[in-house]
Amino acid sequence: MKILVTGGAGYIGSHTVVELLSAQYQVVVVDNLSNSSEKSLDRVAQITGKKVPFYKTDILDREGLNRIFEQEKPDAVIHFAGLKAVGESVQKPWEYYQNNIAGTLILVDVMRQHGVKNIIFSSSATVYGNPAVIPITEECPKGQCTNPYGWTKSMLEQILSDIWYADREWNVILLRYFNPIGAHKSGLIGENPNGIPNNLMPYITQVAVGKREELGVFGNDYDTPDGTGVRDYIHVVDLANGHVKALEKIKDNSGLKIYNLGTGKGYSVLDIVKNFEEATGVKIPYSIKPRRAGDIATCYSDASLAEKELGWTAQFGIKEMCEDSWRWQKNNPNGFED
Ligand code: NAD
Ligand code: UFG
Repeated sequence: MKILVTGGAGYIGSHTVVELLSAQYQVVVVDNLSNSSEKSLDRVAQITGKKVPFYKTDILDREGLNRIFEQEKPDAVIHFAGLKAVGESVQKPWEYYQNNIAGTLILVDVMRQHGVKNIIFSSSATVYGNPAVIPITEECPKGQCTNPYGWTKSMLEQILSDIWYADREWNVILLRYFNPIGAHKSGLIGENPNGIPNNLMPYITQVAVGKREELGVFGNDYDTPDGTGVRDYIHVVDLANGHVKALEKIKDNSGLKIYNLGTGKGYSVLDIVKNFEEATGVKIPYSIKPRRAGDIATCYSDASLAEKELGWTAQFGIKEMCEDSWRWQKNNPNGFED
C-alpha cells in the first residue's frame, strides 16, 4: 500500500514515516515546510535506509495536489498537515481556519476525485474541552474548545464524519492524541519548535540545554494531587505506531472510527520535572507562575478502545519519554539548523 503523508516533515509525521517504512509501506510526503525542515526527511533516510519522495506543496494548492495524486496514486492519506500553536490561533483565527479547514476540504476533494477514500486524521484530546469524565473515553461528549486551533480539530472531525455519512465508500479514522513527547531512540529526529516553546517538554529540554533559565509552572492551585496540571503524556513513537495499526484497520473497510491515543496515565507538571531530572541527571529550576488561560486541571485517556479494536497499546513509559526527549535536544541544540 502507498500512503500519502501530509505534514510528514513535522514532529509526529516524521516519526510516523519511520514506522510506516519499517512496516514496509510505501510513503510519499507532502509538506509546505511552514513549521518544519526537509532535513527531517534526510534523517528519516539515515534511520531507515529509505529515501521517500517529497513534495514541497501546500495542501491549499489544489493543482499541486492533483499532480501528486496523478503521479503517485496513493491508496490512503494520513493527514498531519496543519497549524498547531494554541496561543497563535487566538491571535490569528482566520489563518488557522483557512489553513486547517480550507486545506483539509481541498485535500479531501482531490482525494475523492482520484477515488482515494481512506483517511486517518490527527485530532486531539482538546475536542473534549473540559472533559465530563476522567479517564476520558471516546464516548465522552465533545466540549467547548478554548481556542480556534481546538475548534479546527472539532470542526474537522464533524466535517470528515459528515463526508463518511454521505458516502460510505469512505473510511475515516479520527485519532485523538493526548500529549505527545519523546523522540526516536536514534536522537536524529524530534520536536523542533520555533521560538519560545509553548509545550511543557520542549520547554524543559531547552532549560536543560541552557537555552532558557527556568521553567514557569502555570499554576499550582488546581484540584490535582500537587496542584499542577495533569496530562496523559505519550511517546511519539507509540503514537506513530498507532497510525500503522489504524491503517491495518482501514483495510477491513472500517467506516468511521474514533480512537483515543494515550497511555491512560496522568502525570502532573511537577511529576514530569522530577521524572526528567531522574532520567537525565539534569536539574530543572522552576518557579510557580499564574495559571495559563484556557488550561484545564486534568486530562487523561481511557485507551482501552484502541487496545481492543486496533490491538494497540503504548509501550514506552515516562522514563523513556524523558530520556529520548533529552537525547534529541542534547544532540541537536538548534534542532535541524546547523
Ligand atoms: P508539526 O508542526 O511538527 O507538523 C505539522 C506539519 O504540517 C509541519 O511540517 C508543517 O510544515 C505542515 N503544514 C502546515 N500547514 C500546511 C499546509 N497548508 N500544507 C502543507 N503542509 C503544512 O506538528 P506535529 O506536532 O507533528 O502535529 C501533527 C498533527 O497532529 C497536527 O495536525 C497537529 O494539530 C496534531 N496534533 C498535535 C499534537 C501535539 O501536541 N504535537 C496534539 C494533538 C494533535
Ligand atoms: N505547562 C507549564 N509550563 C510550560 C508549559 C506547559 O506549566 O511552560 C503546563 C500546562 O499548564 C499544562 C501542562 O504543562 O498543565 C501541559 O501543557 P502543554 O502545553 O505541553 O500541553 P497541553 O495539554 O496544554 O496541550 C497539548 C497540545 C495541544 C492539544 C492538547 C490536548 O499542545 O495542541 O495537548 O491534546 F490540543
